[in-house]
Amino acid sequence: MTLDTIYSEISAHFLEGLMIHNKLMETFYFLGCYGYGDFHKKQYIDESKNYAKLAKYFISRNEKLIHTNQVSDPYVDSYAKIYPFNYDQFSTEQIKSLIARSVDEWVKWETSTKYFLNDKISELIKMGENADAEFISIFLKDVDKELDKATKLRRMLINTDYDMTYIMENQKEE
Ligand SMILES: [Fe+2]
Repeated sequence: MTLDTIYSEISAHFLEGLMIHNKLMETFYFLGCYGYGDFHKKQYIDESKNYAKLAKYFISRNEKLIHTNQVSDPYVDSYAKIYPFNYDQFSTEQIKSLIARSVDEWVKWETSTKYFLNDKISELIKMGENADAEFISIFLKDVDKELDKATKLRRMLINTDYDMTYIMENQKEE
C-alpha cells in the first residue's frame, strides 16, 4: 500500500458518500419527509467540505493530484425501481418501508465508512505516516457522530413501529 493508493481509495469512498447523501435527500423529499431530506442536504454540504479538505491536504503536501478510483453510482438500481411510480400510488405501507430501507441504507453506509477509515488509519500508522493518520482521524470522528445519530433514529423508528405521526413530528425542516 502506498500513500497515493490510500488517498485514491479514501477519495473514491468520500465521493460515493456524497452520492448516497444526495440520493437519501431526494428520497426523503419525495416521501414528504422534508426535515430528514434537509438533514441529508446538510451532510452533503458538510461532506463536500471534507472532500475539499482531503484534496487540499494531499495535493499541497505531495504536489500531485489524487488519482481517484472508479466510483460506483448508488442510484443505479434503487432509483429505477422507485421513480416509475407516482407518490399518489404509494400506500402508507410502501412509504414506511421506503423510509425503513433508506434509514437502514444510511446506517449501513456510515458503519462501512467507520471501518473503512479505521483500516486506512491503521495502514498509515503501519507505514509510519502518523501525521496523515491523525489528519484522517478527524473524518473518523465525524463519521462516528453521524453513525450514532443514524442508529438512534433507526432505533426510534423501530420502537414506534414507523408511526407516520411520530415521523412527521420528529423532523425539523430548514
Ligand atoms: Fe455521511
